Amino acid sequence: MAYVIGERCADVVDRGCVRECPVGRIHEGGHALCIHPDECVDRGACVSACPVEAIYYEDDPPAELKAYHGDSAAFFFHAIPGHDLPLRSPGGAAKISPAAVDAPLVARLPKRSIQR
Ligand code: F3S
Ligand code: F3S
Repeated sequence: MAYVIGERCADVVDRGCVRECPVGRIHEGGHALCIHPDECVDRGACVSACPVEAIYYEDDPPAELKAYHGDSAAFFFHAIPGHDLPLRSPGGAAKISPAAVDAPLVARLPKRSIQR
């Protein structure tokens, strides 16, 4: 089981979740972040760190966000642009460079202008 980042993260990218995850399992994409579905160890510290409530438990997603679990899997287990092979399970976000691309669903979201 794992936690999942949904579309509210797109273009907000607060990164509070990254600071709170004790095992470094939150990876940077092009305009949203992504939790590794196999390497997340369910600490849950990321949830309250997100100011836009973008993170939810895989078994209890809002109906409109159910697809984002599969989107996270696609980010790691399909070859994404710029990478010849899937990222698979790198053993932590610090072991790979941030990806300049997003998972398929996130990549299709319209860019938003976020006021900070
Ligand atoms: Fe880290 Fe959040 Fe998972 S704090 S271990 S990504 S539940
Ligand atoms: Fe995104 Fe929220 Fe983390 S906006 S980067 S999921 S703190």
